[in-house]
Amino acid sequence: MGQVHSEILPGRVQSSNMSDYTQAVANFKWEDVERNFSWYDTGKVNMAHEAVDRHVQEGRGAATALLYSDAVRDESYTFADLQERSNRFGNVLRKYGIGKGDRVFIFMPRQPELYFSLLGILKIGAIAGPLFEAFMETAVKDRLEDSGAVALVTTPELLHRVKRDELPNLRHIFLVGGTTDIEQGNLGFTEEMANASSELELEWLDLDDGLIMHYTSGSTGKPKGVYHVQRAMIQHYYTGRVVLDLRPDDIYWCTADPGWVTGTSYGIFSPWLNGVTNVVRGGRFSPQDWYKTIERNKVSIWYSAPTAFRMLMGAGESSIQGIDLSSLRHVLSVGEPLNPEVVRWGDKFYNQRIHDTWWMTETGAQLICNYPGMDIKPGSMGRPLPGIEAAILDDRGNVLPPFSMGNLAIRTPWPSMMNSIWNNPTKYEEYFRIPGWYMSGDSAYMDDDGYFWFQGRIDDVINSSGERIGPFEVESKLVEHPAVAEAGVIGKPDLVRGEIIKAFISLREGYTPTAALKEEIAAFVKAGLSAHAAPREIEFKDKLPKTRSGKIMRRVLKAWELHLPTGDLSTIED
Ligand code: WTA
Repeated sequence: MGQVHSEILPGRVQSSNMSDYTQAVANFKWEDVERNFSWYDTGKVNMAHEAVDRHVQEGRGAATALLYSDAVRDESYTFADLQERSNRFGNVLRKYGIGKGDRVFIFMPRQPELYFSLLGILKIGAIAGPLFEAFMETAVKDRLEDSGAVALVTTPELLHRVKRDELPNLRHIFLVGGTTDIEQGNLGFTEEMANASSELELEWLDLDDGLIMHYTSGSTGKPKGVYHVQRAMIQHYYTGRVVLDLRPDDIYWCTADPGWVTGTSYGIFSPWLNGVTNVVRGGRFSPQDWYKTIERNKVSIWYSAPTAFRMLMGAGESSIQGIDLSSLRHVLSVGEPLNPEVVRWGDKFYNQRIHDTWWMTETGAQLICNYPGMDIKPGSMGRPLPGIEAAILDDRGNVLPPFSMGNLAIRTPWPSMMNSIWNNPTKYEEYFRIPGWYMSGDSAYMDDDGYFWFQGRIDDVINSSGERIGPFEVESKLVEHPAVAEAGVIGKPDLVRGEIIKAFISLREGYTPTAALKEEIAAFVKAGLSAHAAPREIEFKDKLPKTRSGKIMRRVLKAWELHLPTGDLSTIED
């Protein structure tokens, strides 16, 4: 493959020499990164053009873009193939009157069609909304309703979880692996694609036009739709070069599902903006399968998450025996604190230092990272990207000196910063309550070398296996169960998953606290929301600690769980 455009890489840090980093920071200009794109001259942009069509135009159409495999499929697609498929789907959407700014959601497992449709959505300027295949009825409905999605791409197997009668905006459903049934209002994806033209007139957009929405959880209220715009590509491209260290011949594998921001920013945009081969493995996690994926595809760059690394570590040395992992050149992690023990495991068995990266759905792309070549302090998230200013603030917004714990905050703006929270300006403003700063909700400290160390969440958000779970959403589902009077949900520390969900429940009159009832309640959440939102542990209590205004005090539940002092109880009910 040829060069990935011009080589303006202001933020590149190539050695552990501190002055190299300082210099990169001092010389950095976002504008230098923007010059890598053709839109820099035209002012008009489209992510799908920059990630796919541009490579074809520049003579790299025959290069492999996607290597997909699961238990039954094993397929490879070039950039030209992606162009053709996404053009077709863009035309299909237009045929049904869908266009710029419309929300089109995708609810299906990782399969090539997910990627074709997502790119097709972007080509016509619509906004993509990927959903985890694990979501059940309520989770799907909440998201489609809040976003006002007009169309959905899904599969016949998942269709029964879509309550279309309750979703008046949802006009079209495309079934991957299904057929057209006009009466039911379903359109067969394959049929529609076959009938559509492979030529498409691209929708040229402005940098502030929509790109994608990801729903994510806070500690209160339903999940919020984090809305990102085209501008984010500047940072997707840049971090792909300086953090992922993508080079033209790389085979890159990001293990995340596109239902999570990592699976789009780094499972779609960053690799394809940089023109590298992107590996997608469908199906469930298994250590053997994962190692084979690396060996078979000769993966050189691997981006995964601590829970996965811990599970691989748990599978032991024997699971690696006989497998050749020597293609690996760079390994990265995101989503949860990366234990030093896991870093040492990587040193020993992958012959790679696992590089931790910190960012959030709201930040759109990596912000604090360990760069290739830099000195890693195991347990630290690394240092801010050149172009990003991070600090630890107290609650009033004062910048704290090294080694003080406080709010991890980022100086606004940066290119991939969320544009808004869909339908919820109040929630959006909460992040920016200190003028000039984005408040992450994480607590951390900085050491005297400028490395950041994660300490925890400031709110009650739970991080289980790298997935963000809002306690409120789980509690709301729990109290829908006929036996449940009240419920409080917390994250309980867990060696493999980081945290697991634990629910404290008080029962209604007439219900007996039995093990069978616990199972039934957990299954109820699983069926209504999703498996990852279901409590792995339930404890029955006669009464739950509440404030006088009736709010369940999760902090007290947590203190009970950890056998810690309960702190100030002056607001408790009785
Ligand atoms: C946590 C993930 C420790 C953090 C892309 C953050 C981390 C939340 C790290 C965002 C890390 C992410 N070390 N904690 N390297 N990376 N987190 O939105 O609490 O699903 O606020 O996005 O995950 O989770 P989200």
